[in-house]
Amino acid sequence: MSQTTPPPDANKLPAHVAIIMDGNGRWALKRGLPRLAGHRAGTENLRRVIRACVEFGIQYLTIYAFSTENWGRPREEVNGLLRILEDVIDKELKELSDQGVRLRHIGRLDQLPSHLQQKVLDAVELTKGNSRLTLNVAFNYGGRDEIIQAVQHMMRDGVQPDDVSPETFSRYLYTVGIPDPDLIIRTSGELRISNFLIWQAAYSEWYVTPTYWPDFDKDEFHKALETFANRDRRYGKINSSDYEKNHA
Ligand code: IPE
Ligand code: IPE
Ligand code: MG
Repeated sequence: MSQTTPPPDANKLPAHVAIIMDGNGRWALKRGLPRLAGHRAGTENLRRVIRACVEFGIQYLTIYAFSTENWGRPREEVNGLLRILEDVIDKELKELSDQGVRLRHIGRLDQLPSHLQQKVLDAVELTKGNSRLTLNVAFNYGGRDEIIQAVQHMMRDGVQPDDVSPETFSRYLYTVGIPDPDLIIRTSGELRISNFLIWQAAYSEWYVTPTYWPDFDKDEFHKALETFANRDRRYGKINSSDYEKNHA
């Protein structure tokens, strides 16, 4: 971003941005590289976007790193993605913590190798006192899985049918305590939700760009935030100035 680009309007910033970081494989294919090189480049880009979030004053960032469906990819790719998560924790945790990043995990931890489960838990514990940016890492995350887990947990707790409300239900989700995403960004141009935050996205604004994730730079992120700032969020209602125009 050029030095003259102003920061986004702080009053119109989304509190919570969620990103479907898609297109790593196609980014690599275009360069004649293996898919894992695309995932590595995507991870490099993530560092830049996290830094931009801290700079711009975003409070919550949720990143979709591995879906419950991604286990269906070739073993080599799955292992590579698990290794990348481990490397990021090993190599980036200190810098993230120094930036004031609080790490959280959303998804099924119990299906990951046990040493990796422990690393994730340790990283969450180590950064729990940070408050500048909460980074939710969706790894082995699936929206349907999250909802089913929540229902099972509620039934085990003996929650009575009449006591189930959107508020009580939300307390059983992985995202408990985190506001719903205001803005969801999907890179690489796909127009689908791919099992991401299907409950929480009820009123999120969407921003889709054809750019592949490794190329989604600070300028593009800034553009997404500017677009968001101009959205009219009505939540099913009408805004009063429109009403007056209709009934003048
Ligand atoms: C997104 O990139 C990262 C993960 C799903 C882990 P992809 O690997 O889906 O890249 P494309 O969609 O094949 O280009
Ligand atoms: C969504 O991307 C999952 C992540 C970005 C981690 P996919 O590439 O897995 O989604 P589909 O298969 O195109 O829907
Ligand atoms: Mg993809």
